Amino acid sequence: MKGTQAKSQLNIPAELVPRHVGIIMDGNGRWAQKRLMPRTFGHRAGMEAFKEIVRATDDFGIEALTVYALSSENWSRPKEEVSALMGLLQEYFLSQIDELHRQGVRIRVIGDGSRAPLAARQALERAQELTRNNTGLKLTVAFGYGARMEIVGAARELCRRVARGEISPDEVDEQAFEGHLYTHGLPPLDVIIRTGGEMRLSNFLLYQAAYAEFVFVDTLWPDFDRRAYASAIESFAARDRRFGGLMARSKE
Ligand code: FPP
Repeated sequence: MKGTQAKSQLNIPAELVPRHVGIIMDGNGRWAQKRLMPRTFGHRAGMEAFKEIVRATDDFGIEALTVYALSSENWSRPKEEVSALMGLLQEYFLSQIDELHRQGVRIRVIGDGSRAPLAARQALERAQELTRNNTGLKLTVAFGYGARMEIVGAARELCRRVARGEISPDEVDEQAFEGHLYTHGLPPLDVIIRTGGEMRLSNFLLYQAAYAEFVFVDTLWPDFDRRAYASAIESFAARDRRFGGLMARSKE
């Protein structure tokens, strides 16, 4: 898409469109509470927002989207809430998979979802399997995910490879390390958007965020629509990314 206007409603040149966006979808509970409704009502509305954002990501010409659907800490929420979230995830993948597949979306699920009910795991497994050869939007769903766990896992795997004599300690460099992260093969993370007004990473993509920009918005996730998304991306595009150097990236 370089050098051309992206097929999008974004008000920025195509070369400033991020390749990889991460989103922390926060605020479902508060959105529901404001309406005197149970938190699960907010999660359902959150799923509708998610559908719109996935479509918009494709329309904006963004190559990869990684979303935080469930953190490793979220398992400790009340059983009914966790179970409602599992149900929604399953519903999303069962109802949307054909459309996603038609659009060429490639789905990857990262994290430890082993505590999820079998039906939810099967829906996620099927979605990954069906779309594995697709070459369109790379949609990664972090589910039962924690960045520390991911980093420790990568370190452990490299230790094992050293112990087996497959590589020497000197070969453990950034490239080798990144090859053992869940996100290997995805483009570098350009920006993390967090909705819901909090300004923290909550154990999301800690390694990958080294040179990512952060855009924090007050909008609660169910209200985060295509227009709010476009404005978050435009705010990212206005940043001077220097990657530790002195030269601002050209915005021409
Ligand atoms: C955080 O809001 C959100 C979650 C823990 C779950 C995110 C889930 C969805 C957006 C719906 C389903 C998703 C998919 C991928 C189909 P919160 O509950 O922490 O909100 P609060 O901070 O207002 O309490």
